[in-house]
Amino acid sequence: YTKVGLIGAMVEEIELFHEHMKEVTEHEKAGITYWEGTFQGKPVVLCRSGVGKVNAAVCTQILIDRFGVEAVVFTGVAGALDPSLEIGDIVISTECLQHDMDVRALGFERGVIPFAEASVFPADPGLSDKAYEVSESLFEGRTKRGRVLSGDQFIASRETVAELHRELNGACTEMEGASVAQVCHMNGVPFVILRSMSDKADGSAHINFPEFTKQASLHSYRIVEGLVGKI
Ligand code: ADE
Repeated sequence: YTKVGLIGAMVEEIELFHEHMKEVTEHEKAGITYWEGTFQGKPVVLCRSGVGKVNAAVCTQILIDRFGVEAVVFTGVAGALDPSLEIGDIVISTECLQHDMDVRALGFERGVIPFAEASVFPADPGLSDKAYEVSESLFEGRTKRGRVLSGDQFIASRETVAELHRELNGACTEMEGASVAQVCHMNGVPFVILRSMSDKADGSAHINFPEFTKQASLHSYRIVEGLVGKI
């Protein structure tokens, strides 16, 4: 790909990229700032989408329309759902689903977008394979591939974790990935979501979220640093 879009939701998740980018020009659209330049010698457009699915969707569409990115990498932190994941471990998306899409009242299964052709959005296999290789070479035994769930909710209860893992087969949960995935799918643009675990979504996140977010963001940064050179 000649131009890659890099998205993070929060300052902590993108600041390392911002520090290491070169030849940067700044743009603004829809209240979101975009930094166009190079990273690891590759043309990239970095942006901080803000938290939640709507912000991430708008940001992704602008990256595609206005900046012409040919692939999208979302990087950041998530709450672990798979009980084998520890804080700092990494999830590379195989696919994404919106866990808060819920039209069960009309007979649709949980997570299904009514009348849509798809509700589960597969990540690009090539991007996903490469991200996994890089992640394993850096953090051996700490990377899982799996389904990333997204919803406009910070999950903070053991019951919800068990339910999301059991019913929707989520490896981790966050608030943007599946909307980025859907927008990429709608536009035929390849993507991968890369998440380091900042918490176990069990209600204890508030105690050390800032500290773990910093550590997890560093892991995500190092993987994307390795990945961008290979795509
Ligand atoms: N991002 C990081 N941790 C999260 C959680 N527990 N729920 C939703 N998004 C998150």
